[in-house]
Amino acid sequence: MSVLSGKKVLLGVTAGIAAYKAAILVRGFIKAGAEVRVIMTPEAKDFVTPLTLSTLSKNEVYSTFVSDDNENAVWNNHVELGLWADFFVIAPATANTLSKMTSGASDNLLLATYLSAKCPVYFAPAMDLDMYKHPSTHHSFEALTSYGNIMIPATSGELASGLEGQGRMAEPEDIVRFIEDDILSKLPLKGKKLLITAGPTYEAIDPVRFIGNHSSGKMGFEIAEASARQGAEVFLITGPTHLQTKSKLITTIRVTSAGEMFDAVTNKFDQVDIAIAAAAVADYRPSRVADQKIKKKESALVINLEPTQDILAYMGSVKKNQFLVGFALETENEVDNAKGKLQRKNLNLIVLNSLNDTGAGFKTETNKVTFIKQDGTVLPQNLKTKTEVAEDLLNLILKEIHV
Ligand code: CTP
Repeated sequence: MSVLSGKKVLLGVTAGIAAYKAAILVRGFIKAGAEVRVIMTPEAKDFVTPLTLSTLSKNEVYSTFVSDDNENAVWNNHVELGLWADFFVIAPATANTLSKMTSGASDNLLLATYLSAKCPVYFAPAMDLDMYKHPSTHHSFEALTSYGNIMIPATSGELASGLEGQGRMAEPEDIVRFIEDDILSKLPLKGKKLLITAGPTYEAIDPVRFIGNHSSGKMGFEIAEASARQGAEVFLITGPTHLQTKSKLITTIRVTSAGEMFDAVTNKFDQVDIAIAAAAVADYRPSRVADQKIKKKESALVINLEPTQDILAYMGSVKKNQFLVGFALETENEVDNAKGKLQRKNLNLIVLNSLNDTGAGFKTETNKVTFIKQDGTVLPQNLKTKTEVAEDLLNLILKEIHV
């Protein structure tokens, strides 16, 4: 899944021949999962029609401060457009528009929106090679970069004038990739590795039966996606579940039993910066797994159980600089029990789930948790979706590790 998925992209199109590529650029953003709105300078409409861009973006295209809608004048609010956008991308950006952007000129809707935009602004210059080389154009590049705008450099090749040189707008797919890479490189967990355990474990009794639990894996999967959205590389070690991951940054390692989960965790733990144990690991397993299906008999069946290894406690005992987070599912003396687990397992943070709270726990879309920090601070949370709980947990971890 692209980092642009669900993001709002405002595309500014100015009057250069590369404007015809704006159509492909709109498609590229839409394919990446973004919502797109387009503003054009009035002259850009000579190069590509607003109808093409509105059809592709599925949104009205704006080019003037006032539109005539069945003779009713409608004010196109540049401030609203600027605030709506998560990213403003000006492509193609002509020498004329770039120069006006440097000086604060705002004689069209695109420029006024640029001045009002609070989001990151990318610009992809497109012009003839001598215009591109001109000191005034370089002055524009430097000024805009000093304002914090991000330049997507033009490439070299054949230009509309027939000349060869630098000035061709970067190809639409390269513009999309440039922006994705730039966003990724600035995410707070970029360069960090996370290990997350999720789901239930199944402990075999015989070849067809097992001891398991009702965990769906949803909480752990949501934490994995939330971590990837913040740029982390994630190892998701999960017990049996039908859930699938979306982000390319997640490597899913599927296991069945507590023993297999322990092996997978010990294999990865020393490589990671943060580990979060959201799995509902079986505490006991049959001491002996029958080779053949156990046959029904008249008498009671006794299965001897032995403890499994506590994976989280193991991580706590060997951890060096890793930030370690555990979960605690409690039914009584919740906060005290969770604090006890935090100490015993040498954790940095524990997420308490109380089965006494409606909407919390297994097989629900929601969760009501309490975060407890190493210093004993108790942070009760409201009932939220598991996606929101995952975001909150990640934000708290980021605060604790001072990213
Ligand atoms: N956990 C684990 N390995 C186990 C058991 C638990 O990694 N064999 C982890 C869980 O993923 C969770 C935390 O330990 O993060 C707490 O699990 P929980 O079952 O609530 O606690 P236990 O330590 O098993 O204690 P009890 O069952 O007595 O409450």
